[in-house]
Amino acid sequence: MYVYSIVTVFITLSLYCFLDLEVISVTNLFLLPLSFILLSIMLNKDFVLIENSISTSITIPISLPAIVFLDPLLAGLYGVITEFFMINRSRKSLIKVVFNVSATGLVVMLLAILAQKGFAVGEFNIFSSAYFLYIIVLGMMYSVLSNGLPFLAMLLQNQRFDSQSISAFSATLKTSSITIFLGLINVFVYHHFGIIGMAISTFLMIFVKPTIHFRYILNNEMATFTQFVLHVIKLYDPITHSHSERVKNWTIIIGKEMKLSNKEIHELSQAASWHDIGKIEIPNELINKAGKLTEEEFDIIKSHPEKGFLLVKDMHFFKKYLPVIRYHHERMDGKGYPLGLKGKEIPLHARIMCVADSFDAMTSRRSYKQGMSMAEAVEELKRCSGTQFDPGIVEVFIRALQKEYGIHFEGWDKQVSNF
Ligand SMILES: [Fe+2]
Repeated sequence: MYVYSIVTVFITLSLYCFLDLEVISVTNLFLLPLSFILLSIMLNKDFVLIENSISTSITIPISLPAIVFLDPLLAGLYGVITEFFMINRSRKSLIKVVFNVSATGLVVMLLAILAQKGFAVGEFNIFSSAYFLYIIVLGMMYSVLSNGLPFLAMLLQNQRFDSQSISAFSATLKTSSITIFLGLINVFVYHHFGIIGMAISTFLMIFVKPTIHFRYILNNEMATFTQFVLHVIKLYDPITHSHSERVKNWTIIIGKEMKLSNKEIHELSQAASWHDIGKIEIPNELINKAGKLTEEEFDIIKSHPEKGFLLVKDMHFFKKYLPVIRYHHERMDGKGYPLGLKGKEIPLHARIMCVADSFDAMTSRRSYKQGMSMAEAVEELKRCSGTQFDPGIVEVFIRALQKEYGIHFEGWDKQVSNF
């Protein structure tokens, strides 16, 4: 249904644009779109195809000038033909090819109409910041729509969020900041030096291609890889995994009450997923041991923050989570581990994680222990405030819990059965 509507809208819009087409010269009608198509194919020769439906083709540097300078129908034609050459036709059914081609044609044509209308209304000066901004917005819309339409088709087909496709989608959007910039260069070059100038600048862009592909692959693989690791942790040690998921929730509650920025709250909650990554080096039977641990066993458990730190310290993705991974068992009085840092020497995120982590350890059930009630856990937090925990964070957390669950945490009893 979705596929057919996209194809129908594309055909209708093409007819509309066909009636509206102003034929100025043969050059404008045939040669110009053909040059744009050839340039796009030249730029995308040997492009990298990742094994999901979203591929990293570099079309924006040519599509953006096509949107700005070509008649909408011709721009649409350009979109259709370049997409046809670019997609992996041998692995796609006819309907998929028709959909992809129509979706790209539709996006380029729609944006070309928007560009025409926008420039007609705005009477932009080529060097004005409004002109710049308008083209950047068009480039962003192109990137979101041209990737978003196939992405939506995939979602509808699979009826679920496929995490790898989401990673690929977000990696493509991240990479588009560079390609939009290249598109902007081509718009200016075309405006001043015509198609020959643009051909030369496009030729030079071939040398930037490895950088773009590298960035795309890095973004995509980093996200996919981290999901893979999380999945392995979930299988190997489900208790630590579910503990981390709950800690994530507590850190969000604390972050919001502390009025941290959304970016910081997101970072903190992500750090919760990784804070116990070092436990993958600790034998499972020790982590889940029901009885009392011997001193030797406890020392092994205590090594997990440092082990986690050493395990991931050289990986770019983990850089911002390292303080949390390494210092979440430090104490305000300096009696924590692994380094015995004191007070504000412990980074803020690690101090927050320490409160959230300990609170969850106290309240959650294990096969060998009944979890504390929230009131008991709060008393414990208060008792250790200033020695183990940052008093400011404890205060904020208790306030946030009362807002969430009632002044005597009465709402908590209803939820506790979920643990
Ligand atoms: Fe831990």
